[in-house]
Amino acid sequence: MKKTVTTFKQAKQNGEKLTMLTAYDYSTAKLIDESGIDAILVGDSLGNVILGYSDTTAVTMEDMIHHGAAVARGAKEALVVVDMPFMSYQTSPYDALVNAGRLVKEGKAGAVKLEGGAEVCDSIKAITSAGIPVMAHLGLTPQSVNIFGGYKVQCRDEQSALKLINDALSVQKAGAFAVVLECIPAKLAELVTKTLDIPTIGIGAGNGCDGQVLVYQDMLGMFSDYTPKFAKKFADVGVVMKNAFSQYIEETKTEVFPSEEHEYKISEEIIEKLEKKLRENHTK
Ligand code: KIV
Repeated sequence: MKKTVTTFKQAKQNGEKLTMLTAYDYSTAKLIDESGIDAILVGDSLGNVILGYSDTTAVTMEDMIHHGAAVARGAKEALVVVDMPFMSYQTSPYDALVNAGRLVKEGKAGAVKLEGGAEVCDSIKAITSAGIPVMAHLGLTPQSVNIFGGYKVQCRDEQSALKLINDALSVQKAGAFAVVLECIPAKLAELVTKTLDIPTIGIGAGNGCDGQVLVYQDMLGMFSDYTPKFAKKFADVGVVMKNAFSQYIEETKTEVFPSEEHEYKISEEIIEKLEKKLRENHTK
Protein backbone atom coordinates (compact mmCIF):
# COMPACT_ATOMS: atom_id res chain seq x y z
CA MET A 1 0.00 0.00 0.00
CA LYS A 2 1.26 3.50 -0.87
CA LYS A 3 2.69 5.32 2.16
CA THR A 4 1.54 8.89 2.66
CA VAL A 5 1.68 11.69 5.22
CA THR A 6 -1.06 9.75 7.05
CA THR A 7 1.46 6.93 7.56
CA PHE A 8 3.69 9.47 9.33
CA LYS A 9 0.83 10.76 11.50
CA GLN A 10 -0.28 7.26 12.50
CA ALA A 11 3.27 6.11 13.26
CA LYS A 12 3.71 9.01 15.71
CA GLN A 13 0.35 8.26 17.34
CA ASN A 14 1.17 4.55 17.66
CA GLY A 15 4.76 5.06 18.77
CA GLU A 16 6.08 3.17 15.70
CA LYS A 17 9.48 4.21 14.33
CA LEU A 18 9.57 5.70 10.82
CA THR A 19 12.30 4.86 8.31
CA MET A 20 13.65 6.97 5.47
CA LEU A 21 16.70 6.58 3.20
CA THR A 22 17.93 8.73 0.35
CA ALA A 23 17.91 7.57 -3.27
CA TYR A 24 18.66 9.40 -6.49
CA ASP A 25 17.90 6.87 -9.25
CA TYR A 26 15.35 4.28 -10.37
CA SER A 27 17.13 1.01 -9.56
CA THR A 28 18.27 2.04 -6.07
CA ALA A 29 14.81 3.43 -5.29
CA LYS A 30 13.31 0.09 -6.37
CA LEU A 31 15.64 -1.88 -4.07
CA ILE A 32 14.95 0.41 -1.11
CA ASP A 33 11.21 0.44 -1.79
CA GLU A 34 11.10 -3.36 -1.95
CA SER A 35 12.82 -3.49 1.45
CA GLY A 36 9.73 -1.90 3.02
CA ILE A 37 10.94 1.65 3.78
CA ASP A 38 8.36 4.30 4.74
CA ALA A 39 9.85 7.17 2.71
CA ILE A 40 12.58 7.81 0.16
CA LEU A 41 14.26 11.19 0.28
CA VAL A 42 15.62 12.54 -2.98
CA GLY A 43 18.02 14.67 -0.98
CA ASP A 44 19.99 17.57 -2.36
CA SER A 45 22.88 15.55 -0.90
CA LEU A 46 22.92 14.31 -4.49
CA GLY A 47 25.18 17.34 -4.99
CA ASN A 48 27.78 15.58 -2.82
CA VAL A 49 27.32 11.87 -3.43
CA ILE A 50 26.15 11.85 -7.07
CA LEU A 51 27.56 15.03 -8.63
CA GLY A 52 30.77 15.37 -6.58
CA TYR A 53 30.26 18.96 -5.37
CA SER A 54 31.78 19.95 -2.02
CA ASP A 55 28.37 21.20 -0.76
CA THR A 56 24.72 21.32 -1.82
CA THR A 57 24.49 24.98 -2.86
CA ALA A 58 25.07 24.31 -6.59
CA VAL A 59 22.19 21.82 -6.89
CA THR A 60 19.47 23.06 -9.27
CA MET A 61 15.73 22.60 -9.66
CA GLU A 62 16.45 20.66 -12.87
CA ASP A 63 18.72 18.25 -10.93
CA MET A 64 15.99 17.63 -8.35
CA ILE A 65 13.27 17.17 -10.98
CA HIS A 66 15.42 14.79 -13.03
CA HIS A 67 16.35 12.57 -10.05
CA GLY A 68 12.96 12.93 -8.33
CA ALA A 69 11.09 11.56 -11.33
CA ALA A 70 13.55 8.65 -11.65
CA VAL A 71 13.10 7.72 -7.98
CA ALA A 72 9.32 8.06 -8.18
CA ARG A 73 9.26 5.53 -11.04
CA GLY A 74 10.99 3.00 -8.77
CA ALA A 75 9.10 3.71 -5.54
CA LYS A 76 5.81 1.86 -5.67
CA GLU A 77 4.99 2.11 -1.94
CA ALA A 78 7.32 4.56 -0.25
CA LEU A 79 6.43 8.23 0.08
CA VAL A 80 8.82 10.16 -2.17
CA VAL A 81 10.07 13.37 -0.55
CA VAL A 82 12.07 15.69 -2.82
CA ASP A 83 14.40 18.37 -1.44
CA MET A 84 13.89 21.98 -2.50
CA PRO A 85 17.36 23.10 -3.63
CA PHE A 86 19.21 26.18 -2.40
CA MET A 87 17.56 29.45 -3.56
CA SER A 88 14.39 27.72 -4.80
CA TYR A 89 12.40 28.87 -1.72
CA GLN A 90 14.50 31.38 0.26
CA THR A 91 13.65 34.28 -2.08
CA SER A 92 9.87 34.45 -1.44
CA PRO A 93 6.82 32.32 -0.56
CA TYR A 94 5.71 32.79 -4.19
CA ASP A 95 8.96 31.29 -5.53
CA ALA A 96 8.67 28.53 -2.94
CA LEU A 97 5.16 27.66 -4.11
CA VAL A 98 6.04 27.74 -7.81
CA ASN A 99 9.11 25.55 -7.30
CA ALA A 100 7.35 23.11 -4.95
CA GLY A 101 4.66 22.82 -7.63
CA ARG A 102 7.30 21.95 -10.24
CA LEU A 103 8.76 19.26 -7.94
CA VAL A 104 5.31 17.67 -7.70
CA LYS A 105 4.24 18.09 -11.36
CA GLU A 106 7.58 17.33 -13.04
CA GLY A 107 9.60 15.63 -10.28
CA LYS A 108 6.66 13.44 -9.14
CA ALA A 109 7.25 14.31 -5.47
CA GLY A 110 4.71 13.16 -2.89
CA ALA A 111 6.08 15.82 -0.52
CA VAL A 112 8.86 18.41 -0.52
CA LYS A 113 11.49 19.18 2.10
CA LEU A 114 13.02 22.56 2.87
CA GLU A 115 15.53 23.81 5.43
CA GLY A 116 14.94 26.43 8.10
CA GLY A 117 12.65 27.49 10.94
CA ALA A 118 10.59 30.64 11.57
CA GLU A 119 12.10 32.37 8.51
CA VAL A 120 10.58 29.81 6.08
CA CYS A 121 7.16 29.51 7.75
CA ASP A 122 5.39 31.77 5.23
CA SER A 123 6.74 29.51 2.48
CA ILE A 124 5.58 26.38 4.32
CA LYS A 125 2.10 27.95 4.64
CA ALA A 126 2.01 28.87 0.93
CA ILE A 127 3.09 25.38 -0.17
CA THR A 128 0.78 23.43 2.17
CA SER A 129 -2.15 25.72 1.27
CA ALA A 130 -1.74 24.47 -2.29
CA GLY A 131 -2.05 20.87 -1.08
CA ILE A 132 1.64 19.97 -1.12
CA PRO A 133 2.96 18.31 2.06
CA VAL A 134 6.11 19.87 3.52
CA MET A 135 8.82 18.20 5.59
CA ALA A 136 10.92 20.73 7.52
CA HIS A 137 14.65 20.40 8.33
CA LEU A 138 16.34 21.92 11.41
CA GLY A 139 19.67 21.72 13.22
CA LEU A 140 22.56 21.32 10.80
CA THR A 141 20.97 22.58 7.60
CA PRO A 142 23.60 21.89 4.91
CA GLN A 143 22.47 24.69 2.57
CA SER A 144 23.69 27.14 5.27
CA VAL A 145 27.15 25.55 5.50
CA ASN A 146 28.78 28.89 4.73
CA ILE A 147 27.12 30.46 7.79
CA PHE A 148 28.01 27.49 10.02
CA GLY A 149 31.60 27.48 8.77
CA GLY A 150 31.55 23.72 8.20
CA TYR A 151 29.50 20.65 9.09
CA LYS A 152 29.39 20.85 12.90
CA VAL A 153 27.08 19.67 15.67
CA GLN A 154 24.46 22.36 16.30
CA CYS A 155 22.45 23.67 19.26
CA ARG A 156 24.72 22.72 22.16
CA ASP A 157 24.16 25.97 24.10
CA GLU A 158 20.92 27.02 25.81
CA GLN A 159 20.14 29.90 23.45
CA SER A 160 20.49 27.94 20.20
CA ALA A 161 18.73 24.91 21.74
CA LEU A 162 15.77 27.13 22.70
CA LYS A 163 15.74 28.62 19.20
CA LEU A 164 15.59 25.10 17.75
CA ILE A 165 12.59 24.21 19.96
CA ASN A 166 10.81 27.42 18.93
CA ASP A 167 11.62 26.80 15.25
CA ALA A 168 10.26 23.25 15.53
CA LEU A 169 7.02 24.58 17.03
CA SER A 170 6.83 27.26 14.30
CA VAL A 171 7.22 24.83 11.37
CA GLN A 172 4.64 22.54 12.96
CA LYS A 173 2.20 25.47 13.30
CA ALA A 174 2.90 26.52 9.69
CA GLY A 175 1.73 23.09 8.52
CA ALA A 176 4.83 20.86 8.18
CA PHE A 177 3.89 17.17 8.51
CA ALA A 178 7.33 16.11 9.85
CA VAL A 179 10.69 17.62 10.68
CA VAL A 180 14.21 16.33 10.07
CA LEU A 181 16.59 17.03 12.97
CA GLU A 182 20.18 16.86 11.79
CA CYS A 183 23.33 16.69 13.91
CA ILE A 184 22.04 17.92 17.27
CA PRO A 185 22.50 16.44 20.77
CA ALA A 186 20.36 13.34 21.36
CA LYS A 187 18.75 14.67 24.55
CA LEU A 188 17.66 17.85 22.78
CA ALA A 189 16.17 15.85 19.89
CA GLU A 190 14.28 13.73 22.44
CA LEU A 191 12.88 16.88 24.05
CA VAL A 192 11.78 18.28 20.67
CA THR A 193 10.20 14.92 19.82
CA LYS A 194 8.19 14.92 23.06
CA THR A 195 7.13 18.54 22.49
CA LEU A 196 5.86 18.13 18.91
CA ASP A 197 2.70 16.45 17.60
CA ILE A 198 4.37 15.85 14.22
CA PRO A 199 7.08 13.18 13.84
CA THR A 200 10.77 14.02 14.07
CA ILE A 201 13.16 12.20 11.72
CA GLY A 202 16.70 12.16 13.07
CA ILE A 203 20.07 12.05 11.36
CA GLY A 204 22.82 12.35 13.93
CA ALA A 205 20.14 13.19 16.52
CA GLY A 206 19.99 9.99 18.58
CA ASN A 207 17.45 7.31 19.26
CA GLY A 208 14.75 9.50 20.79
CA CYS A 209 13.41 10.72 17.43
CA ASP A 210 10.26 9.27 15.86
CA GLY A 211 12.27 7.96 12.91
CA GLN A 212 15.66 7.92 11.22
CA VAL A 213 17.09 8.92 7.86
CA LEU A 214 20.51 8.16 6.34
CA VAL A 215 22.21 8.86 3.05
CA TYR A 216 22.35 5.40 1.46
CA GLN A 217 25.95 5.73 0.26
CA ASP A 218 26.99 6.39 3.88
CA MET A 219 25.17 3.38 5.30
CA LEU A 220 26.51 1.11 2.54
CA GLY A 221 30.12 2.32 2.67
CA MET A 222 29.99 3.70 -0.87
CA PHE A 223 31.21 7.26 -0.23
CA SER A 224 34.68 7.78 1.17
CA ASP A 225 35.19 11.60 0.86
CA TYR A 226 34.08 11.97 4.51
CA THR A 227 32.04 9.87 6.91
CA PRO A 228 30.03 11.62 9.61
CA LYS A 229 30.15 10.07 13.12
CA PHE A 230 26.42 9.28 12.97
CA ALA A 231 26.64 7.28 9.74
CA LYS A 232 26.61 3.63 10.77
CA LYS A 233 27.99 1.37 8.03
CA PHE A 234 25.44 -1.44 7.64
CA ALA A 235 27.44 -3.06 4.83
CA ASP A 236 30.70 -2.50 2.95
CA VAL A 237 29.23 -2.38 -0.53
CA GLY A 238 32.03 -0.08 -1.72
CA VAL A 239 34.56 -2.89 -1.13
CA VAL A 240 32.25 -5.45 -2.79
CA MET A 241 31.92 -3.14 -5.83
CA LYS A 242 35.66 -2.50 -6.11
CA ASN A 243 36.40 -6.24 -5.89
CA ALA A 244 33.85 -6.95 -8.62
CA PHE A 245 35.29 -4.20 -10.85
CA SER A 246 38.83 -5.59 -10.40
CA GLN A 247 37.65 -9.13 -11.17
CA TYR A 248 35.89 -7.90 -14.33
CA ILE A 249 39.07 -6.16 -15.51
CA GLU A 250 41.19 -9.24 -14.77
CA GLU A 251 38.79 -11.71 -16.41
CA THR A 252 38.38 -9.53 -19.50
CA LYS A 253 42.12 -9.16 -19.96
CA THR A 254 42.68 -12.91 -19.50
CA GLU A 255 39.67 -13.81 -21.71
CA VAL A 256 37.95 -15.70 -18.92
CA PHE A 257 34.99 -13.36 -19.51
CA PRO A 258 32.78 -13.59 -21.47
CA SER A 259 32.50 -17.38 -21.31
CA GLU A 260 30.09 -19.55 -23.32
CA GLU A 261 27.20 -19.04 -20.91
CA HIS A 262 27.21 -15.31 -21.72
CA GLU A 263 27.26 -15.79 -25.51
CA TYR A 264 24.49 -15.85 -28.15
CA LYS A 265 24.49 -18.77 -30.64
CA ILE A 266 24.27 -18.92 -34.42
CA SER A 267 24.34 -22.08 -36.55
CA GLU A 268 27.73 -23.29 -37.82
CA GLU A 269 26.19 -23.64 -41.27
CA ILE A 270 25.48 -19.89 -41.51
CA ILE A 271 28.98 -19.02 -40.33
CA GLU A 272 30.49 -21.39 -42.94
CA LYS A 273 28.38 -19.81 -45.68
CA LEU A 274 29.42 -16.31 -44.57
CA GLU A 275 33.09 -17.33 -44.50
CA LYS A 276 32.78 -18.80 -47.99
CA LYS A 277 31.18 -15.59 -49.31
CA LEU A 278 33.91 -13.48 -47.75
CA ARG A 279 36.62 -15.69 -49.31
CA GLU A 280 34.94 -15.44 -52.74
CA ASN A 281 34.62 -11.64 -52.49
CA HIS A 282 38.23 -11.41 -51.45
CA THR A 283 39.50 -13.38 -54.46
CA LYS A 284 37.47 -11.30 -56.98
O1 KIV B 1 19.93 15.98 1.40
C1 KIV B 1 19.83 15.05 2.24
O2 KIV B 1 20.21 13.91 2.02
C2 KIV B 1 19.24 15.38 3.53
C3 KIV B 1 19.41 14.37 4.62
C4 KIV B 1 20.78 14.49 5.17
C5 KIV B 1 18.36 14.52 5.65
O3 KIV B 1 18.70 16.42 3.69
